[in-house]
Amino acid sequence: MPTVLVSGSSHPALAQDVAHALGWPLGACAVERFPDGECSVRLDAPVRGADLFVLQALSAPVGEHLLELALIADAGHRAGAASVTAVVPYLGYARQDRRELGKEPLGARVVAELLSAGRVNRMVCLDLHSRAVEGCFLQPVEHTSMVPVLVEAVRQGLPPNSVVVSPDLGAVKRAEMFARPLGLPSAVIHKQRIGSDEVHTQGIIGDVKGRHVVLVDDMISTGGTLAAAVHAVLEAGAQPSVTVCAVHGLFVGAAKERLGALPLARVVVSDSVPPGPPLGFPVERVRCAPTLATVLRRLSFS
Ligand code: R5P
Repeated sequence: MPTVLVSGSSHPALAQDVAHALGWPLGACAVERFPDGECSVRLDAPVRGADLFVLQALSAPVGEHLLELALIADAGHRAGAASVTAVVPYLGYARQDRRELGKEPLGARVVAELLSAGRVNRMVCLDLHSRAVEGCFLQPVEHTSMVPVLVEAVRQGLPPNSVVVSPDLGAVKRAEMFARPLGLPSAVIHKQRIGSDEVHTQGIIGDVKGRHVVLVDDMISTGGTLAAAVHAVLEAGAQPSVTVCAVHGLFVGAAKERLGALPLARVVVSDSVPPGPPLGFPVERVRCAPTLATVLRRLSFS
């Protein structure tokens, strides 16, 4: 079965890197705006009878990138593609995977429905916020992880008395995925979210005193979670220089000021979303392309 990989407008550099890793050409797909702001998509790559892969990170502006992805998928379906796979290195709305108060929408489920409306047959995702998100999709979800690659990046130069710390209860399993291969103990912070941009911490389970802390999370958005976590471990007597590592580095809102004010040894993320404006502190971005290419190669043979 022939395969075609095209890119939406959100992260063309990653699409190019994945195409390069696969040795596939990147198919032509033009995305423009009509004067009234509507999205105009033209899929120029011939896709009849082919397995079409569309790479689009659902980073900001999330809604526009989501609709664009659904439109490209629909164009592919109508042009006769045998299947349409959405390759989504970062899935926006994944944090809306449950209703805390019973008054909110199930955002992740709505996103899944919108992609179904675009005739997406299958998803390829990296490190979803939770496994529960997969259940929002009727389509099969190939859920793969950047953690093994990030573990090797973090391992370089890590002091032997380090401890892996989860900034909240939800990230405990991910912290274990780092601690085990690094041969380190782990700890967890009790976090309480006050609003979309504000969190409080209420104590740490585990020993961080005198240790170098490696804070791990699925994503850094406004940096509120990590800033609160860094303050908590410093108050608990951790060494005054902290490594932070997350799969998705969004760095939006107050992230630049918050993280810039912290004593950070290293900030390590993947390139699942495009880098924004300069942050004023060094950020190490680990390539997702080899991991995504491995999945796409396997799917193209199945
Ligand atoms: C929360 O459950 C997530 O795992 C992240 O900790 C959170 O979304 C990060 O957002 P922020 O950087 O805005 O605190």
